[in-house]
Amino acid sequence: MASKDWRKSVVYQIYPKSFNDTTGSGEGDIRGIIDKLDYFTTLGVDYLWLTPVYESPMNDNGYDISNYYEVNPQFGTKADLEELLEKAHARGLKIMMDIVINHTSTEHHWFVESRKSRDNEYRDYYIWKDGTYDTPPTNWESKFGGNAWAYDEDTNQYYLRLFDITQADLNWENEDMRRDIYEMINYWIDFGVDGFRFDVVNLISKGEFKNSEGPGKEFYTDGPKVHEYINELNRNTFGDKDIMTVGEMSSTTIEHCLKYTNPERNELNSVFNFHHLKVDYPGGEKWSLANFDFLELKKILMEWQVAMDEGGGWNAIFWCNHDQPRVVSRFGNDETEENRLLSGKMLAIALHGLKGTPYIYQGEEIGMTNPGFNRIDQYRDVESLNAYSILREEGMDASLILDILATKSRDNSRTPVQWDDSRNAGFTEGMPWIEVSDKYGEINVARALEDGDSIFYTYQKLIELRHELDVLTYGSVKPHLMKDDDLFVYERLYEGERITVMANFRNKEVPYPENINAEGEVLLSNYADRKNVLRPFEAMMIYGQNN
Ligand code: GLC
Repeated sequence: MASKDWRKSVVYQIYPKSFNDTTGSGEGDIRGIIDKLDYFTTLGVDYLWLTPVYESPMNDNGYDISNYYEVNPQFGTKADLEELLEKAHARGLKIMMDIVINHTSTEHHWFVESRKSRDNEYRDYYIWKDGTYDTPPTNWESKFGGNAWAYDEDTNQYYLRLFDITQADLNWENEDMRRDIYEMINYWIDFGVDGFRFDVVNLISKGEFKNSEGPGKEFYTDGPKVHEYINELNRNTFGDKDIMTVGEMSSTTIEHCLKYTNPERNELNSVFNFHHLKVDYPGGEKWSLANFDFLELKKILMEWQVAMDEGGGWNAIFWCNHDQPRVVSRFGNDETEENRLLSGKMLAIALHGLKGTPYIYQGEEIGMTNPGFNRIDQYRDVESLNAYSILREEGMDASLILDILATKSRDNSRTPVQWDDSRNAGFTEGMPWIEVSDKYGEINVARALEDGDSIFYTYQKLIELRHELDVLTYGSVKPHLMKDDDLFVYERLYEGERITVMANFRNKEVPYPENINAEGEVLLSNYADRKNVLRPFEAMMIYGQNN
């Protein structure tokens, strides 16, 4: 019997290091997730995605894997992971693992071997090229700053590292390497996991190694053999199994994402793209202070929604993850408690009516905000610390950099989950690895659960609707009022059913839109009644007929 359609699922993302600590180490662990399983059943999600828990020196918090087969002792043991799977499955919850196959840690034994000599059997598992002592093979930039090549004195060559210097890019041209990767993925399938999130998987196929006018992305993004490799990965691992997959796609295009997710091509189920989360990067510059461009946000979201729908592709839909600042501080308003609650619910309703698989990042469901760090020693993230030193070297004022980090740093989403108003927000008995936001007295899970009107219950209701209503899963997407400066409005249409979503992104009253079919039953709203205007951050989801 076919299992429930995966397209109806909602995924909850866990960043284990900041989730729940049961040992007092100051870092979250797998047992901490087991302890909270009832919380997920209350929320109603279907899958839990765990960011990497494998052995790792943790220079990039686990995205630098040194052993794909072992659990990092800081998170617990394999027995803990087994127990998590068992107890999750008993509750009908599925577990999705994060797989990083674009690179490994330089501490992975393949790399340790590879760097020993030019004729080592693992040499070719990575990308080694000649340069001269002070001129790397190409001028490509690392995503974490600096040149993308690291010089290795012993063998007098450079290895490619698109991310940190301790994250060496794997050479997908090498068949043995690919075979080893498939074997590893099959190990986790046999272990009993239910899905995979593939980290920056559209970067695995490198094209030509040439200098670029820019950072070099055109040479390795959606590269020449990427579809071939992903198809091969699919056929050798999860392809014929009940495994949900999502690929993280860096700087990708709709055209490629239609290919990645077209079921007939046997690649992946769904994709994350990030174009809608760059609407506050003026001129493409992340390290800047800027308000978000609302018209651009709508344009990008809707372009992807319509094109993926019409082309038979499938999006992951999300505002937040461990690499993004908190959405309520970013596209909402956290200046007052009232605005935080209204805009947190508005953002949830605006997103969860879209077509695709919704992802909720830990703490989003209670409206966690950016913590407002204002000293560099509060930061832990390698990307943020690199950015700080590079911008300082370029002469930027330290206080301006701190203001920028406070809105853009990945650490904004990595502060511990605020469970209650006890010490350290109930996250740990020890010393948290990164500071707990000082807003935890007001914003915490215990409080959200007690208050029937909290953001949590908006998410809970949205998940319930996603499970119940086919129109939310299969309905086509019809955007409206694309030029309107304040409102985000769209319809979903399916076999005579209609959902209308209306969201006011502004902290002001705006006229009720004309010529929008908003007849029907209000399924969900963040105000108790309806008026002939849309109040600050007012949002609603309406169910009616399509005629
Ligand atoms: C992805 C991850 C990010 C990580 C990077 C390198 O973008 O989400 O956290 O730093 O890949 O693995």
